[in-house]
Amino acid sequence: MKIPELLAAALPQDCVTTEAWALQSYGCDRTTIWPAQAVAVVRPRHIDEVQRCVQLANEHGFALVPSGGRTGLSGGAVASNGEVVLSLERMNRIVDFDPVDASVRVEAGVVTAQLQDYARDKGLYYPVDFAAAGSSQIGGNIATNAGGIKVIRYGMTRDRVRGLSVVTGKGERLELNRGLLKNNTGYDFRHLFVGSEGTLGVICEANLALAPAPADPLVLVLGVPRFADVLEVLASFRQRFSLSAFECFSDNGLRKVCAAHQLAPPLSTPAAYYALIEVDECDGAAEQAVAAFEYCVDQGWVSDGVISQSLGQAAELWKLREYLSETLAAWTPYKNDISVAVSRLPAFLVEADALMAARYPDCEVVWYGHIGDGNLHLNILKPERWSKDDFLSRCSAVTDELGDLLVRHGGSISAEHGVGLLKRDYLHYTRSPAEIELMRGMKALFDPRGVLNPGKLIG
Ligand code: MLT
Ligand code: ZN
Repeated sequence: MKIPELLAAALPQDCVTTEAWALQSYGCDRTTIWPAQAVAVVRPRHIDEVQRCVQLANEHGFALVPSGGRTGLSGGAVASNGEVVLSLERMNRIVDFDPVDASVRVEAGVVTAQLQDYARDKGLYYPVDFAAAGSSQIGGNIATNAGGIKVIRYGMTRDRVRGLSVVTGKGERLELNRGLLKNNTGYDFRHLFVGSEGTLGVICEANLALAPAPADPLVLVLGVPRFADVLEVLASFRQRFSLSAFECFSDNGLRKVCAAHQLAPPLSTPAAYYALIEVDECDGAAEQAVAAFEYCVDQGWVSDGVISQSLGQAAELWKLREYLSETLAAWTPYKNDISVAVSRLPAFLVEADALMAARYPDCEVVWYGHIGDGNLHLNILKPERWSKDDFLSRCSAVTDELGDLLVRHGGSISAEHGVGLLKRDYLHYTRSPAEIELMRGMKALFDPRGVLNPGKLIG
């Protein structure tokens, strides 16, 4: 029997499809590098159907690509090698909510924004947030340890996960950490699955910690002529506030966003860089923010600025940052999602800028990032006249040089997008041979036949 027939015989019939549109659309994520070449798409409704699928893969030796909202930027959910896509999208129930524990149990296919809305309705807050929240799913967020714009205050997805229900690559069901806040009973497997990119098991359900509802946001956008001064601005605001976001973007990115979305630039005089700062609106916050802004102007760090006067204005200012990724997609950018310690950012960026200018004299480089977390997104835009393959091979060569630079600055080749296929060959710039060997050992333990997401993360 062929693989789709095997699956159709073992699962409810409407779970399996081989329609061309489905193979194409479920076979790729937001990278446009690898062609979709899935042989089937399976969309189970229950964890026991997921388990059956993994058991079949083991029995018959085919590969599965666990799949969420496919908003990834590293090729972690691409099926380009005859795999079966295992989509969790139908497992999208909010299973339980406990106001005393301030936690929620959800299936993997719940969309991030759906959970955010649910938490808000309960008077609480799910703080993992990013531009793709309307499509990304919780299972994928956990599998990639998604970060986003609120990490500076709330941490990454890992910091929300209190428990997981997974089916391992071997086909075993594990209930990890049972939603407990305290559980000192040895190895915490839950954390192994966070960020494992579907290589150890399929995340089916999660118990997630919610946060208290935050105050309304007060947002500032400040023009900063020199990058090193962005960090002075960060330090000044940090002394006065518990920040909920501190983002930065360069002027060329801002201009593209404004042009694509017919938005007015935030400041009358452009600056080389912009800091977007979010704090809680509370008594005296606006006065404090203006005082911090004036201090930064007096120091010569900031040239101009704007502060939101309403929730609507705060949301408008956020668009300038949140629309960047989608706007740049028109240039099929090569993405470097890197991190160094915040204090090392200026020195790192001087060298990174020099490297980009030397290696990509013909390419425009747009960067933005979660500067408060030391996370930069360096996007290299493809010149129209270059073929995709030519562009990719040039980018790959420079990623090695960037890797060397990151080693010298103690940084990471993937801060929040994950490794997938895109950064797999660069993993050794951040992880030692001993660590990679241990990763392989773990893979062999949880997925001895290598049926889950082969080729991703560690190859
Ligand atoms: C962002 O910060 O906007 C996201 O990580 C997406 C991206 O880098 O393109
Ligand atoms: Zn980001």
